[in-house]
Amino acid sequence: MARHIACLRGWHPALARAEISALLPQMSVTRLEGRRLVALSGDGEEDVLVQAVNVSSGCQAILCDAVLWPCKGESDIEGLIVDVLGHLKQHPREGSVAVRAWRHEGRIEGVGPSQLAQRIGGRLHDLGYSIDLDEPVHEFGVVIDASSNTIACGWMLGFGDESDGVSSRKAAERPFFKPVSLDPRLARLAVNLASGPIDNGATVDLMTGTGGFLIEAALSGRVAVGFDLDPVMVDGANQNLTWALEAEDMTDHRGQVMQGDATQLETCMPQLEVPLTGFVLDPPYGRNSQGSLAPMELLEGVLNSARSVAERNASLVLILPIHPMGEHPDESIASTHEISLLHGQWSDVELSLRHSGWDVKALWVEHVHASLSRLILHATVAPQD
Ligand SMILES: C[S@@+](CC[C@H](N)C(=O)[O-])C[C@H]1O[C@@H](n2cnc3c(N)ncnc32)[C@H](O)[C@@H]1O
Repeated sequence: MARHIACLRGWHPALARAEISALLPQMSVTRLEGRRLVALSGDGEEDVLVQAVNVSSGCQAILCDAVLWPCKGESDIEGLIVDVLGHLKQHPREGSVAVRAWRHEGRIEGVGPSQLAQRIGGRLHDLGYSIDLDEPVHEFGVVIDASSNTIACGWMLGFGDESDGVSSRKAAERPFFKPVSLDPRLARLAVNLASGPIDNGATVDLMTGTGGFLIEAALSGRVAVGFDLDPVMVDGANQNLTWALEAEDMTDHRGQVMQGDATQLETCMPQLEVPLTGFVLDPPYGRNSQGSLAPMELLEGVLNSARSVAERNASLVLILPIHPMGEHPDESIASTHEISLLHGQWSDVELSLRHSGWDVKALWVEHVHASLSRLILHATVAPQD
């Protein structure tokens, strides 16, 4: 059974671990000592792994059948090179190659990415590989993780240390921007967490606003539908969707925005070619909510309506503003943790989820700034009696 290593971005490793688990449900995902390294074991075809890392928000790269080297310092590197040579003989590749090396979480004294890249590149050359730094057929990834004194390396899938485009995109650059617009990095992560693998089914952005989730779902190649009650938002989200897809040259996308009430999905949901399996929700707490419902009634109405159209294997990600909780905790938090919502009571949200047939699976906190954090909640359809 293969054991690969996923290398995660530093923004929110706990969420990134949950995201890669959702994108690769057939693999078992285990956190290693370094919070940005996870082992993926099981049978994952390479094209499935490539798809997961390419659509992910939090995964920089997957190193295939990786060598995991506990590094004791500079003097120890010769041992790593011996292991790498063994790995290259066991897992040869055809075509030109380049080595990409980067650091996680600080430095290991005397061990640098460019020095390691050169040494491993030299060995690849000795083995007869042609080196092409600009357009190699294969990349060999080397990650120096200082938090766990580990070096992980292997044939690499994904972008490596470079930006994947999700983190470099900014909501404020879109034609229609509002302060409520979600950061594309968080929106993509929530979509992946709720929706799982691309072919799982459709993603529903229940209250789309400027289109934060919807755009990420469509850009990642999913069937995606967004609803908003406000025609101005529908028009703006449409402009943003078209703009984002054109920027990526995506002419055959499967995203649409509709004017509709998210508490009435049974009547406004269009016929889609795939089941409804991923729901994402960023409700208008404490803001100008459309319609006459109080915020908690609105939330329960939307959760109920989503549940009524959801497949039995569907997931939901709900994002709520909360009072600041400091830096992101390194793991998910328990639902018994003291959670202080900016608007309303956490116990009421828990009750609404239970009443509407959603089981809370996990909760994370994201630090936004000194006076705001966010709760990111992952729920699945509750089993029926
Ligand atoms: C917080 S904003 C969503 C922001 C969004 N995530 C983004 O990236 O722009 C909530 C949206 O819910 C919409 N809304 C309020 N009540 C609604 C309802 N019953 N059905 C659908 N949308 C509704 C509001 O018009 C608003 O655009």
